[in-house]
Amino acid sequence: MFPPVYIADIAAHEGQEVTLHGWLHNRRSSGKLHFLQVRDGTGVIQCVVFKGNVTPEVFQEADHLPQETSLAVTGLVKKDARSPIGFELDVKDLRALAKPAREFPLGHKEHGVAFLMEQRHNWLRSQRQAVILRVRHSVVKAIRDFFDGRGFTLVDAPVFTPSACEGTSTLFEVPYFDLGKAYLTQSGQLYMEAAAMALGKVYCFGPTFRAEKSKTRRHLTEFWMVEPEVAFMDLDGDMELMEQLVAHVVQAVLAKHERELRDVLERDVSKLANVKAPFPRITYTEAVEVIQKAGHPMKWGDDIGGDEETVVASAYDRPVMVHRYPAAMKAFYFKKDPQDANVALGCDVLAPEGYGEIIGGGQREDDLAVLEASIAQAGLPKEAFEWYLDVRRYGSVPHAGFGMGVERCVAWICGLHHVRETIPFPRMMERITP
Ligand code: 4AD
Ligand code: MG
Repeated sequence: MFPPVYIADIAAHEGQEVTLHGWLHNRRSSGKLHFLQVRDGTGVIQCVVFKGNVTPEVFQEADHLPQETSLAVTGLVKKDARSPIGFELDVKDLRALAKPAREFPLGHKEHGVAFLMEQRHNWLRSQRQAVILRVRHSVVKAIRDFFDGRGFTLVDAPVFTPSACEGTSTLFEVPYFDLGKAYLTQSGQLYMEAAAMALGKVYCFGPTFRAEKSKTRRHLTEFWMVEPEVAFMDLDGDMELMEQLVAHVVQAVLAKHERELRDVLERDVSKLANVKAPFPRITYTEAVEVIQKAGHPMKWGDDIGGDEETVVASAYDRPVMVHRYPAAMKAFYFKKDPQDANVALGCDVLAPEGYGEIIGGGQREDDLAVLEASIAQAGLPKEAFEWYLDVRRYGSVPHAGFGMGVERCVAWICGLHHVRETIPFPRMMERITP
């Protein structure tokens, strides 16, 4: 049994007799032949049970096994041009390891979203969900490779935090011993700013939490974010880093998963081929003009909502970078543009095809007095930010960074309607199970 043979490695065993371990995904029969689709987590293979090749008991059983029976199947690996993986298994023996205690709830018919979400733990066994999770893994790996290859150090940010980073309205509060309460982190950014002063180029990569009351297809209450932060970098450098990261991730995923994206997820992969740097850049002010021309009632100073983002992004064949937002709508830590104090040195990256914002970030305020004033103006408690102000007290330097949401990237790359399919066990306002 060990080392086991996996379906993904089957080509190396052509002409040999092997034993596979997996689950019965589907089956059909034509009297003398039973066709079993067996999956083992690395792939799916068709196992052909011919009456003349097995005992009568095995032949009889093969026609009655329920979906998701766990199996050991022994047979000859044969080339087959019609198979998506190029091979099938000519069965010699077959053993049911465990039969389902009751019928698997997700048979081969259409199911509603609410039911699928309740059945998320079982839904993961579908080929479609397996592909999405593999793409997610590749997105995470590509992100790590990108930063590791550029001399960044991974610095883990805490999950329990004493203060808000992205506004007080989306904080999750947890009781915290004698200290009263803590919040689940909305962003590791403030910690990365301190770490960048120690290590120069850093990133954190972990789960972040927002008590989002919006039930949109882009919002989760728990999502994963990568947040780089670089000392001595300005907004221009930050924007170059953003576009290089996005292009790297998309091209790495495409190189590895083009066939699965196209065949299983029915993604138009030609739309991803163009995702190469440089990306178009427009100011917030220019974006407002584009949105107004398209007939949307919006004035300077308003937030660019989901529909408006789509209007801006649909003008391009790759992500667009919108920079210099009104300072009043951005968080307290943004540096204001020295050329125009009404705008912040921030940038959002909007993905095409209606996917919208995948990155937010910018240059940080590095002046102690200005930052103190911004914290007061935002109504935040200064004591909680004393440590953060130290970043400006001891050799303050220009610095910048950003946050990219993994789920929104995966949704865009896979062409999914909703972010709930991009994370193994999604957490949303109305869902905390399974
Ligand atoms: O634009 P945001 O709020 O930026 C920050 O948190 C900064 N502190 C990051 C930084 O500069 N270090 O969030 C960044 C990204 C968004 O562009 C989006 O991709 C994702 O995080 N995001 C969400 N993804 C899923 N569900 C949500 N509720 C999200 N909120 C933000
Ligand atoms: Mg944002």
